[in-house]
Amino acid sequence: MSFKTVSCPKTQALLIGKPWNDDTLKLALASLAEDLPMAPDVPGGMCEFRRSLANSFFFKFYVDCSRRLEADGLVGNALAAAGLDAADVSAADRFHRPSPKGAQYFQIQEGKQVGQAVMHQAAEVQVTGEAEYCDDIAKPVGTLHGALVMSTVPHARLVKVDPSAALAMPGVHGYFGAADVPHNDTGPVVYDEEVFASEFVTCVGHQIGIVVAETQDIALEAARLVQVQYEELPALLSIDDAVAAGSYHEYPPFTDHTIEDGDVEAAMAACAAAGRVIEGEARCGGQEHFYLEPMANLVWCGDNDEVHTISSTQAPMKHQKLIAKALGLPCNKVVCKIKRVGGGFGGKETRAAFLNVCAAIPAFHLRKPVSLVLDRHVDMAITGARHAFLGKYKVGYSAEGKILALDMRLYNNAGNSLDLSGAIMDRALFHSDGAYKIPNIRVTGKCCKTHMPSNTAFRGFGGPQGVLFAEMWMDRVARRLNKAAEEVRELNLYEEGETCHFGQKMVSSQLKACWEQATGSASLAERRASVVAFNAAHKHKKRGIAATPVKFGISFTALFFNQAGALIHCYLDGTVLVTHGGVEMGQGLHTKMAQVCAQELGITTDKVYIAETSTDKVPNASPTAASSSSDLYGAAVVDACRQLNERLAPVKAKLGEEASKDFAAVCNAAYFSRVDLSAHGWYVTPNLEWEWDGTKGNPFNYFCFGAAVSEVEVDTLSGDINLLRTDIVMDVGDSINPALDVGQVEGGFVQGMGWVALEELIFGDKDHTWVKPGTLFTAGPGTYKIPTANDIPLEFNVTLLHNAPNPRAVASSKAVGEPPFLLANSVLFAIKDAVCEARMALGLGVDFDFNSPATPERVRMACAGPITKLFYKSDEVYRAKLTC
Ligand code: MTE
Ligand code: HPA
Ligand code: MOS
Repeated sequence: MSFKTVSCPKTQALLIGKPWNDDTLKLALASLAEDLPMAPDVPGGMCEFRRSLANSFFFKFYVDCSRRLEADGLVGNALAAAGLDAADVSAADRFHRPSPKGAQYFQIQEGKQVGQAVMHQAAEVQVTGEAEYCDDIAKPVGTLHGALVMSTVPHARLVKVDPSAALAMPGVHGYFGAADVPHNDTGPVVYDEEVFASEFVTCVGHQIGIVVAETQDIALEAARLVQVQYEELPALLSIDDAVAAGSYHEYPPFTDHTIEDGDVEAAMAACAAAGRVIEGEARCGGQEHFYLEPMANLVWCGDNDEVHTISSTQAPMKHQKLIAKALGLPCNKVVCKIKRVGGGFGGKETRAAFLNVCAAIPAFHLRKPVSLVLDRHVDMAITGARHAFLGKYKVGYSAEGKILALDMRLYNNAGNSLDLSGAIMDRALFHSDGAYKIPNIRVTGKCCKTHMPSNTAFRGFGGPQGVLFAEMWMDRVARRLNKAAEEVRELNLYEEGETCHFGQKMVSSQLKACWEQATGSASLAERRASVVAFNAAHKHKKRGIAATPVKFGISFTALFFNQAGALIHCYLDGTVLVTHGGVEMGQGLHTKMAQVCAQELGITTDKVYIAETSTDKVPNASPTAASSSSDLYGAAVVDACRQLNERLAPVKAKLGEEASKDFAAVCNAAYFSRVDLSAHGWYVTPNLEWEWDGTKGNPFNYFCFGAAVSEVEVDTLSGDINLLRTDIVMDVGDSINPALDVGQVEGGFVQGMGWVALEELIFGDKDHTWVKPGTLFTAGPGTYKIPTANDIPLEFNVTLLHNAPNPRAVASSKAVGEPPFLLANSVLFAIKDAVCEARMALGLGVDFDFNSPATPERVRMACAGPITKLFYKSDEVYRAKLTC
């Protein structure tokens, strides 16, 4: 209610001498509302919620006192006298969080290198802190440290940039801006960005220049001394602003991308005639990647204009290409390497590159090594996030709840450049059917151009937004029909052999297997009954339960990315060094590749090492993304091993079977016979075809499937949630490494749970006038809540679907990196279920769009009741403000 503790004098005076009863409570609540006023534009926002919360806490205090009075026997029938009954008492209970428990069910493959739950090869150095990340690497002597000069306004013409005060500081070696960049146009997909802003800045945090100095502290201070004069221009700070202004990114090959199937007009008209169409607006917020290692780069130059860089990136090839482009150098003189990144989650697929180019400019001009490492708050403010989406939809359904027609327009908040927003919108369109057969469908997408930092890839890459909206309208259909949501969801699940809206067939679908096993092992039907019983006995705590399916397409939707190389060297001691195009970011890719290589060469996994990823070992590599890396690089490794095995076969034949069991002996014999012990493997994903011309095709190699059941308890007075239990069944084919895969499933789920229930990005805009326009308010963990150990399900059961080999990827496995993120939808809809229970108990309607994230504000205000009525007069469901 304030930045300091305040007392409530009016309420205090009023309470003295009053009887302890409901009338006094009502007086106190009304008086508290006067004692604690709050302006609609109060710093921190959420005015109605915060005022409701203060009163809700007073009510909890009232219940708690009444309960104690009764328990202490000081006052007979204190609860009844206070106008409370048994169902009220829980208002004063806190959530209990005993130690969480969990189970992990998976199969291992006997006698093989693949299929074992091998520990992550870097686990030990990572947990001890010995693991070297980019900024840990010993810097060359004379390394300078960079700090960016960034725009403080969202949209302006640059009138003047004056670095003289910065340059006068001792220890400062230079300032570099647009004029110092030989070729200033840049961008990961199209060149719609600048290395440094020349004439216009188009977001807060837009890089104008870089200061380099002897220490990072000096550089940061000097960067603040650079004087920038702006001529401010109007700024678009939301999807709604962009739509009103018609501000969209060019999105080749067409302005809008559309997928259409069946006859939407006719089907929708028939549904409308039967009164079975729901129209709505779904929204979801963005998400900060919050990788533990912020963006980091080190650049140094060699003779002959060589440029070397180490960068925390998922796409070294982009760095090589864009540094070469900016400096006008050939690609064969630029090398980018990375050993590991401390989490990427898509945030380092493209947005790492522009920072690396910024650092390369002073390094090249001064011929001195330059390190550029972002502070957390800067990283959060300028490197982009998951896209907020808006979906305007119309859905038509049958009396049983079969979805017959969907017409949806999607908008994403792309920010000030296109970046990957087009491909992200495409993946949202490909996933806007959720896991459901929709015979008549039209989905269209537009990328909104706003004056915000360019948003980018984040685990799921638009898929989570598309699927979330499908679950949103599905939930509404179920509530309109007064059916359990899981019943309607199940009714619409794809059957084996059915075709989805873009023409791809569901073959070897594990969707129903996952669904049936998840809902079965979670005893969904019985637990729904106990949820109902709990809710009848509790007025201010409500439980909710939900099951949601996952279907996620595997392949880059940009066809050309679906190629991969691997380079394998065998040494004379029988050890093997593998280099492939993929980056290790914690997902365990290198460990899996070592297992695949060992399997193919007939050696043990501990003989295989993967040191780093480098553009001079495997050229032109795709970003490590789209969950495809183990499929792609695994197959490339297999191809290289096949070549080696072919060359080694005659050597082994000569050696004999027994001696050939010693791989060192084989390598030695090969060496002395002058046989090449190095091989380059190559793989191209077959059978992919997709064009944005209205024709149907197969953009994906296959689909991953899964299902989750989650149960939550909601404190309807505070909006706090407690995740009681989650059961997951995930199809990962024959797992190459079940330990890593379970880790990906649990981690992906928890990260998704953060997106739908905890994390909220707040920028200054029309709805958040207490923040400077275009500025990120939630630029650190103090205001931005990521999931912690205290947020995981109290009971967490993960099953990797048994006996489900995938013929379309290496070692019969399936991709796993992104799909589990979507399992978290079960949490959002369990929360909505609990909120609906609270509303039904109050006789309020349950037909509404419940936006994501389900923060305490959104939950508390949607639960409504007499307290919120004091601060929010309308009968409509309260719509918590959302940066979108
Ligand atoms: N797991 C960890 N520990 N750290 C990460 O950064 N990124 C995710 C996923 N799992 C990520 C992760 C994302 S966004 C993708 S696309 C995949 O890993 C990429 O790796 P893969 O292709 O090897 O699955
Ligand atoms: N997924 C992830 N990253 C990508 C994709 C994709 O489909 N396309 C381009 N970058
Ligand atoms: Mo992942 S979003 O494809 O890096």
